[in-house]
Amino acid sequence: MDLPLATQHLGPHFAAIAADIQTALAELHLPPEAEILDVGTGEGKSAITLALHGFRVLTGEPATDTSHYANKNWHSAATALGVAPRISFVPFNATRMPFERGRFAAVMFFGVLHHIDEADRPAVFAEALRVAAPGAAVIFFEPSTETLAKIRVTDPTHPEAANPADYQGALRVTQTRLTGQRMTMFLYRAA
Ligand SMILES: C[S@@+](CC[C@H](N)C(=O)[O-])C[C@H]1O[C@@H](n2cnc3c(N)ncnc32)[C@H](O)[C@@H]1O
Repeated sequence: MDLPLATQHLGPHFAAIAADIQTALAELHLPPEAEILDVGTGEGKSAITLALHGFRVLTGEPATDTSHYANKNWHSAATALGVAPRISFVPFNATRMPFERGRFAAVMFFGVLHHIDEADRPAVFAEALRVAAPGAAVIFFEPSTETLAKIRVTDPTHPEAANPADYQGALRVTQTRLTGQRMTMFLYRAA
């Protein structure tokens, strides 16, 4: 991965973001060209990082999302970094994903769960497990306390980080928690 070039296109925090995604990927042992679902496209940092690792990425966000975090021009960065052909975009709401059961080798939410309406989070968690292949991981990346404090310097109304365990309800899952440079990673698999 050309880190300086990626940083030029994806911003000053890219090295830490890439390191956190690498930490999560190290747990997964995915085959080359596995298909990963990246929920919540945003600026495309997570989708592009996964594509830079060689994975096929399907990413999306609700077409109706008019927030500051959605509808970004991620495609230009993906093109400049040579990975646009590996990324497909499909608009969707994670409460009802338009994908078949068991399709994805991993399902990732990078900086997303805390932006989803709290009432919708249990349905989103269940949907993520439904579209993950048997034994595949669902990973929620949520900002650490330090990262959240830094974000709030420029965005004082930024929501609190979410703890996915609060939304697992009766789902039978195993959880592994990883500490990254910017994010805390909550890795789940169906039990
Ligand atoms: C901070 S951005 C994510 C950052 C992005 N992963 C990146 O690496 O640049 C938050 C994203 O969550 C998405 N989002 C919010 N509610 C959603 C929902 N119900 N279903 C899917 N995506 C949602 C937003 O549209 C936005 O794309």
